[in-house]
Amino acid sequence: MGASERRRELGYLCVDDFVRDAVGARALAGAFELGLVDRLQQQSCTHAELAERSRLDGRGLRLLLGLLHANRVVEQAEGRVRLAAPFAAALQYRDLLEAKLDFTAIVAPDFLESFTALLVDPERFFSTAKVFELFAYQRCFEPSADNYANTARWMRITTALTKYESAVCLERHDFSRYARMLDVGGNSGEFALRVCKRHPGIRATVYDLPLVCDIGAGHVGAEPEAGRIAFVKADAAGGALPPGHDLVTFKSMLHDWPDAGMRQFLARAYRALDPGGTLLIFERSLIEIGEAQLPYSLIPLLLFFRSYRSPEDYASSLEDAGFRGIRFEMIDLDMPFMLVSARK
Ligand SMILES: C[S@@+](CC[C@H](N)C(=O)[O-])C[C@H]1O[C@@H](n2cnc3c(N)ncnc32)[C@H](O)[C@@H]1O
Repeated sequence: MGASERRRELGYLCVDDFVRDAVGARALAGAFELGLVDRLQQQSCTHAELAERSRLDGRGLRLLLGLLHANRVVEQAEGRVRLAAPFAAALQYRDLLEAKLDFTAIVAPDFLESFTALLVDPERFFSTAKVFELFAYQRCFEPSADNYANTARWMRITTALTKYESAVCLERHDFSRYARMLDVGGNSGEFALRVCKRHPGIRATVYDLPLVCDIGAGHVGAEPEAGRIAFVKADAAGGALPPGHDLVTFKSMLHDWPDAGMRQFLARAYRALDPGGTLLIFERSLIEIGEAQLPYSLIPLLLFFRSYRSPEDYASSLEDAGFRGIRFEMIDLDMPFMLVSARK
């Protein structure tokens, strides 16, 4: 892959430049909440014009603009405020930027209040952390307004991440040879949608929890590919996965499960897969801390540091499940990712 293709593939990561620290991220979230970003996206403004359109007084506005300037979101010249060019460019990934701001805001208290528990007493951390109030899979069965709203909130985050991460997976793996894909834990159908958009010959089945499937059906419903994407609701008992697929994918899914659960999913996938079919795992791998401080945008992923595995961990579990021809490649995104493939 050439340098320019790689730059295009990773272009979405520019949003992290504006979520580098808590102060800058919170100021930016405030600017979105107050409609300042929308206003400045239309045209540059004076302080008076911005104050008139927002609920800010002069001192509040000056403070916010100062913080936004320090975060390289805005510039000021000749009495006018405008979006800085790199930030204006990053707004093409606005869904991802807002998802990251939301995700970091939700989990920051866990990091600040319970980081020591995360290190020394993970059980206590897991029982009190806000992040698990959000990703409450047990609330994805019973249809109620509250459960739909909670599920939709975390699905906005997973969907935005998947939208951009999928492109990388599609560049690295040849999907054109498949006819029927099953995406286990396929969430809103975003990964299946990206695959179907690129490959008109593929039909996809998304297997996920009941409320997730309902929201997912709405997510892909208006897309031209909707007729090629079916949603199958997972049963709580862990029964057979839908058969008749020559590709089974697990995208950012297996890390949610301890080893025994992960191995069960691989065994179920083996049974569901057509003979000769392929299994694909596209996942975050082990966190590596280099010389630089981790950016604030990685806090949500840091909290899952015990859940990530190496490709070798997956390779041995795949082999035990009966898979052969196991290959993997590492891909550096916001964190190290791995793309592991295996054949039945
Ligand atoms: C971390 S999310 C990943 C979602 C998506 N694949 C992505 O990359 O963003 C894990 C997914 O697994 C789903 N899930 C949880 N338990 C499941 C089960 N028993 N069967 C199928 N899917 C399940 C969740 O609802 C969620 O959509």
